[in-house]
Amino acid sequence: MQVVQLQALNDFGEWRDKARALLAAGVGPEAVSWREPGGAAGLFEDAMQLHGNRPVGAVPPAFIELARQAILHADPERFALLYRFLWRLLGDRGLIETASDPDLSRLTRMASAVRRDSHKMKAFVRFKAIVDDSGLERFAAWFEPEHYTLEATAPFFARRFDGMIWAIVTPYRSAYWDGESLAFGPGGQKSDVPQDDAVEGDWKTYFGSIFNPARLKVAMMKSEMPVKYWRNLPEAELIAPLIRGAREMEAAMIERATTQPPSRHVRHRERAAPVAADEHAMASLGDLRAAVEGCQRCPLYEQATQAVFGEGPETAEVMFVGEQPGDQEDLAGKPFIGPAGQVLDAALAKSGIDRGRVYVTNAVKHFKFEPRGKRRIHQRPDGGEIQACKFWLEHEIGLIKPKVIVALGATAAQSLLGRAVTIGKARGAPIPLDDGTLLFVTNHPSYLLRIPDAAGKAREQAKFEADLTAVRAAMAGGSGGG
Ligand code: URA
Repeated sequence: MQVVQLQALNDFGEWRDKARALLAAGVGPEAVSWREPGGAAGLFEDAMQLHGNRPVGAVPPAFIELARQAILHADPERFALLYRFLWRLLGDRGLIETASDPDLSRLTRMASAVRRDSHKMKAFVRFKAIVDDSGLERFAAWFEPEHYTLEATAPFFARRFDGMIWAIVTPYRSAYWDGESLAFGPGGQKSDVPQDDAVEGDWKTYFGSIFNPARLKVAMMKSEMPVKYWRNLPEAELIAPLIRGAREMEAAMIERATTQPPSRHVRHRERAAPVAADEHAMASLGDLRAAVEGCQRCPLYEQATQAVFGEGPETAEVMFVGEQPGDQEDLAGKPFIGPAGQVLDAALAKSGIDRGRVYVTNAVKHFKFEPRGKRRIHQRPDGGEIQACKFWLEHEIGLIKPKVIVALGATAAQSLLGRAVTIGKARGAPIPLDDGTLLFVTNHPSYLLRIPDAAGKAREQAKFEADLTAVRAAMAGGSGGG
């Protein structure tokens, strides 16, 4: 058995280097035992010393993306699972698109749990203010992620709270932002972080020990050394000289803070309010997507593989809104790629609308279904679920700012109009919304798929295409097809 002892819990680069060496030496997944930091090698196991130069083929970018996320999952089997899938993938490149593959679907679920965890951190971290005698304010937060997501999520806080000095402490790692750079250090405990806003000289205790910038910088520089050993190093030996440096650095920072405008730099306290990241968290489509991925506004997230966010150019003039992702969309994480999507694509092409220029999304972002044997049978979302998800749709509309919105079916129309409508009555003429957007209502493409007789199907198909032709006419200059 080949033992691979990892130094980090969640370092994709480390796993990739080790996986490459194993592949080059031709070591199959069944002969590898992956160990998280701290694991002890058993008898009859070889520590990793590999020499091999077998060519390692190119890996599809979609796998790299998946692996970068799945490696942050707390499941101890993640490294082995990734290697097994990679090994199989190099023999069959189509595997990355085989949603039914059990390894792929497990990795996809892990990646999705990681994204949810990261979003929870963005939404639920609450900073407590710590104020020194001069009124200088710093912030600290305790958070317990389910997965190893701090390093991947901390840059979000650095962007959002760039003018503050803050620390986020988790059980496995801490992050520190000094107003200019982000550093990571050992994990801590809840008691390391004040539970309420702290005043007077308390910051010295908190920041001078737990969040000491120098200590954290050292941890970063020494990242090749497992954090657990680093944590046990005698403070006096290594840390004390650095504390001096840190104090100097802090003094310089304070100096800068007092000579620069508070809005760009460290703010002085008037009244500390807990800072919630989610207030600012959805200023871009990327942020909104991340927030949707962590959505638990209704119970549908529990059994869906993942939330399916909209797709299309941010500058799209037309937005198509469907009901909810179907079976295939749920697995792939993309809207309208299954049978209903094919009907939509064909009708768009027939009406002269380029799908590449429209934004496609759904009223409800998680797949609602009832398991029946191996099949998952679509269930229509109820009013509460539509209402809960309307929050996301409204934000999506606010960011895309389409001129025309097309409601595909009754669920989308209900979400957009706030009341139930009959398609037959609502279709035809566009409905002006309060903000001036034109809303077209038409059938859902899957309705066409369900019509049993050919004549009826052809009739409805023609009506659907006529609706889309009217949409095209309403697009800027009547030239939606480009
Ligand atoms: N049906 C929908 O409403 N949306 C999809 O994304 C797929 C099928």
